[in-house]
Amino acid sequence: MIKAQLVATSVIGKVLAGANLTGVLQEVWRAEPMLSKQQRGAIQDLSYGVLRFYAQLEAILGFLLKKTLHDRSLYHLLLVSLYQLQYSKAPSHAVVNQAVSASRYLVQGKGIQGLVNAILRSFIRQREDLLKKAAEKDVSSYSYPQWWIDKLRLQYPWNFQAILQAGNKRPPMTLRVNQRKIGVEDYRQLLSEKSMPAEWLWSGALQLSQPVMVENLPGFNEGLVTVQDAGAQLAATFLDVHDGMRVLDACAAPGGKGTHLLELADVSLTLLDNDSARLAQVQQNLERLNMTADLVCGDASNPDMWWDGQPFDRILADVPCSASGVVCRHPDIKWLRRESDLIKFATTQQAILDALWKILRKNGKLLYVTCSVFAEENTMQIEKFLKHHPDACPLPLSGVAMIDGQLLPDIQHDGFFYTLLHKI
Ligand SMILES: C[S@@+](CC[C@H](N)C(=O)[O-])C[C@H]1O[C@@H](n2cnc3c(N)ncnc32)[C@H](O)[C@@H]1O
Repeated sequence: MIKAQLVATSVIGKVLAGANLTGVLQEVWRAEPMLSKQQRGAIQDLSYGVLRFYAQLEAILGFLLKKTLHDRSLYHLLLVSLYQLQYSKAPSHAVVNQAVSASRYLVQGKGIQGLVNAILRSFIRQREDLLKKAAEKDVSSYSYPQWWIDKLRLQYPWNFQAILQAGNKRPPMTLRVNQRKIGVEDYRQLLSEKSMPAEWLWSGALQLSQPVMVENLPGFNEGLVTVQDAGAQLAATFLDVHDGMRVLDACAAPGGKGTHLLELADVSLTLLDNDSARLAQVQQNLERLNMTADLVCGDASNPDMWWDGQPFDRILADVPCSASGVVCRHPDIKWLRRESDLIKFATTQQAILDALWKILRKNGKLLYVTCSVFAEENTMQIEKFLKHHPDACPLPLSGVAMIDGQLLPDIQHDGFFYTLLHKI
């Protein structure tokens, strides 16, 4: 456990200094190939957990510290240990003893181990009072930045709390069955034979009761399934693709929604992204699923640089966004995003949407998608677009409960925004 505590301490430090959690963990796996699966699981759990409840843990640590703790690594180790005491099943005495030992690797100094011991034991003794005190303020109650809470409170006065809470849950693992290869019920049977029970949600979406390693999924390497959130699986079905169509997925990497389009119809698909490293992931996904498409590295807001002049029948615009609808999968986003980022995202989204509209054929359809819950990137963006594009008409989307195209995150899926535009 000491190893997991120490590595998670360093991961938290890097993320809070501005690095992205997925990238930091990948670096750790590369640098420490000898970590066991169990250790990796523990490091991941501690890092995600601390970031989910960071503001609450920080407030509690603030109540417990008599004076400022200048050593950041020790501070982060205490956050990791408080998370374990409050949210893990590890026995309290083991957490405290291991944290005291771990502190020796971080700071040499008189009284350090005594301090770690005293703080963690005080938490165990005063737990209820400390939790109550932390719940008195928005930030430490919900564990989100104040601007984020204020914005959701304003935009969703009736259910902002449910949205915030959904973002602090562990996300489910959901599969998309490749129905070109196997039926949903037949695949569920394969899972059940491997003691992996799953619930059918909609179309090809099966939610596992417990996450598993992808390599253990039956037929994963043969392309029977793809891991994809159920909310994300709606995109390809909404776009209404048919055999023979010319389709563009304009922000395609890593290829989740694009490969789904190829499962639904025999289309001629261009997968565009401006990040060549991420396009390599698209290629891997295509190979695993035994599919072909044109991969293009380019800027969706500047088609002159890559477009061959032939209009598209369908365009998927899964634009870059704040990712505020997927915080349960990326809890670091809560602490890395700034409110000012929303204006930058909205500007890029508008440029992409305007440019793609020009290369959609008359009578064609464009699906605008974000994984955000903020109106600036969603309804406000589309309202502005419709005002300036009289040839655009929004089409109704049905099948799941959405309000004005907004699918709110819950225990079954992430949060997405969808608008299907018809070019008249
Ligand atoms: C939300 S992700 C797309 C996810 C993808 N559709 C899927 O389902 O797997 C957004 C993508 O847009 C790409 N991107 C950002 N700005 C872009 C631009 N100006 N032109 C093209 N791609 C862009 C990013 O590299 C990123 O891969």
